[in-house]
Amino acid sequence: MAPKLAAGNWKMNGTKAALAELDTIAAGIGADGAPEVAICPPFTLVAAAAERAKGGLKVGGQDCHAEAKGAHTGDVSAPMLKDAGAAFVILGHSERRQDHGETDAVVAAKTRAAWDAGLRVILCCGETLEEREAERTLDVVGGQLADSIPDGADAGSLVVAYEPIWAIGTGKVAEPPQIAEVHDAIRSALCERFGDDIGTAIPLLYGGSVKAANAAEIFATSNVDGALVGGASLQADDFLPIVEALG
Ligand code: G3H
Repeated sequence: MAPKLAAGNWKMNGTKAALAELDTIAAGIGADGAPEVAICPPFTLVAAAAERAKGGLKVGGQDCHAEAKGAHTGDVSAPMLKDAGAAFVILGHSERRQDHGETDAVVAAKTRAAWDAGLRVILCCGETLEEREAERTLDVVGGQLADSIPDGADAGSLVVAYEPIWAIGTGKVAEPPQIAEVHDAIRSALCERFGDDIGTAIPLLYGGSVKAANAAEIFATSNVDGALVGGASLQADDFLPIVEALG
């Protein structure tokens, strides 16, 4: 049984004023870490967020470089995120793959770097609308995971987030049978590759227009252990009901 996790991805949103939301989130969640709750703000806020996060609330980054240091203007490394207080890093988000041309090989190298730094990776996968309509969803997602996850994954280092690209920020949520089909396939692939003990303990998150109104139905779906939430994680009043639905 995989532990439950609700993770918020603030994307390119938030200045210092937004940190007040963390106080409300921290006050509204249990300190026992069940479910786990994490917020991933932009790089500029990671250190301040980690200092401010109380109780069970954890902080993550939204990307990292594959190297630990060096001449890479504008980039941030996994050890830097760890040093800033991050526990997680999101890697392979479709916006990184699309906007920055990140391939599965790049995501795999970043994942290795994040593990070396002691970060837990929330690794994203998902198909475009065209790929779904061409009935290629399972092939696309399976290929992304096979090529993006390095050998040596375990339940403490890896979280997988299935995010159909057509459902991100669109208000259009995948139907529970669609989510179940993909999550069941991901679970089977993880068990086949890493063994049942590890494969069943890696949390599988759904992402794509999750909000309070649809969270309970999504969390009742087969092999869904939580959510990666974008827009509805920016305000504590929107995010906390999702955490509560996760139980
Ligand atoms: O990382 C989060 C996802 O891209 C989902 O974003 O909840 O705004 O659709 P969204």
